[in-house]
Amino acid sequence: MKRRLSIFLSISLIIAAAAVMVRVSAAPSAGKAAAERLGIVYPTVIAHRGASYLAPEATAPAYILARDLGADFLETDVQRTSDGVLIAYHDETFERTTDVAVRFPARAKNPVADFSLAEVKSLDAGSWFNARNPERARASYRGLQILTFEEVIAIASASRRPVGLYIESKSPELYPGIEYDIVKVLAARGRLDARRTIFQSFSGESLGVFAKAAPAIPRVYLIDEKMEKETGWKNLVRAAAGSGAGIGPVGYVAYPWNLGAAHRAGLIVHVYTVDAPWQFSALNFFGSDGFFTNRCDLLMEYYGRRPGMAPGDILEKFKY
Ligand code: G3P
Ligand code: CA
Repeated sequence: MKRRLSIFLSISLIIAAAAVMVRVSAAPSAGKAAAERLGIVYPTVIAHRGASYLAPEATAPAYILARDLGADFLETDVQRTSDGVLIAYHDETFERTTDVAVRFPARAKNPVADFSLAEVKSLDAGSWFNARNPERARASYRGLQILTFEEVIAIASASRRPVGLYIESKSPELYPGIEYDIVKVLAARGRLDARRTIFQSFSGESLGVFAKAAPAIPRVYLIDEKMEKETGWKNLVRAAAGSGAGIGPVGYVAYPWNLGAAHRAGLIVHVYTVDAPWQFSALNFFGSDGFFTNRCDLLMEYYGRRPGMAPGDILEKFKY
């Protein structure tokens, strides 16, 4: 992944120089104006599944760290359990980041939606991280639970500093009506705030449902390589402009002329998922208005924003 992105960015840097000469890029302020119109912090630090380089993704320490390091938004993928509870989880199954194969061997490959909340809460969503990243392992990560969506909201809200939620309807075709469920939970928690909530999806249909359920909340259309290849950037920008306020391309398609076209359509552009400082520099030069990142600590530093506390101190403070 990193090697591919490095090669892509090296080639793109050369192309970018030519692009600047022929003035195909939008003015750097174009994205800023769109963000300001929406009341969204610019440039934007979006903690992808929390501070997920330093702690197991989408768990309490990952989100608490991201919040207290100073990220603008906590990014979360939302799915629904068999008994109708919204949870913060990315994958289609629990295999990669939990002990589901030990606890429920016959159902390990079953989709997320086949498990009740009690079953989901019985999984260990932290030990995989220690095994995979011994240099960042902590005893307290063992046995961490998958969070409900409400628990993520509670973490974002338990801070004097405004911290936003950047909420993805993950595989929305599997969860009819999940957009309304998300809006209902946000409303109950007093979090339907257009400056601190953004909906995101790879599904234009899902964004359309969000638009009906909560028209004031900004929506960002996520774009992967396959979509760019099959649909074409121009059509995707048109769709994004029709269904929301922004576009969220994967780094591989974040060419400067693509970002320029999005800015000219009045869209904000948040590129995913970018973790290295030199990649922040290159894509910032290309026009990205912010990043989804697993390294919100590094992105904060890149933007010249110093965290109040060191990651280790934050983890200690919250007994992790
Ligand atoms: O939501 C932005 C980015 O997270 C999209 O990719 O697969 O990590 O959800 P993914
Ligand atoms: Ca996501």
